[in-house]
Amino acid sequence: MGCCIRRGWTGVVCNMSENGLHYRFIVPGDDFARAGTASGAVKKTLKQLGIAPETVRKFSISLYEGEINMVIHAGGGEIDVYIDDEQVSAVLVDHGPGIPDVGLAMQEGWSTASEQVRGLGFGAGMGLPNMKKYSDELEIDSVVGTGTTVTITVRLA
Ligand SMILES: Nc1ncnc2c1ncn2[C@@H]1O[C@H](COP(=O)(O)OP(=O)(O)OP(=O)(O)O)[C@@H](O)[C@H]1O
Ligand SMILES: [Mg+2]
Repeated sequence: MGCCIRRGWTGVVCNMSENGLHYRFIVPGDDFARAGTASGAVKKTLKQLGIAPETVRKFSISLYEGEINMVIHAGGGEIDVYIDDEQVSAVLVDHGPGIPDVGLAMQEGWSTASEQVRGLGFGAGMGLPNMKKYSDELEIDSVVGTGTTVTITVRLA
């Protein structure tokens, strides 16, 4: 059984199989007005599926931070979200500048955000630490000059 839904600018595609649900989002870079649309849509879907509020909260926070990082630091990218009986996970792929020192980037307060971006309320250097805090597994695979792949997993309560 399969379904394919396209909803507005995010280009949501939904696939349904025995393995669960799969959603894909295209995230435009540097579009601050729409940043957070993908994670917002996922949050709504998880709630509708009856997933425990704490799980929804943890995953939504992590995904939001990852999405915003794509918008601000990487010129956008793609997000795949997978939902099954055991866990919710997201794979965020961008082709931005990459992260030269992931250990450093993970430290609270460390940020390369511009003054302009800070003026919009971003750039506290708390996104990655919060993603670590709120996910059960966080994987960051980054190659300078090529891009970054972030995988977030939250197990169902
Ligand atoms: N997808 C990415 N591509 C390139 N660099 C990134 C990416 N995600 C994070 N970074 C780098 O890691 C740093 C720390 O990221 P983090 O999300 O913790 O903080 P921030 O985005 O700067 O601020 P905040 O998330 O608090 O608004 C960023 O400033 C940036 O240099
Ligand atoms: Mg951030």
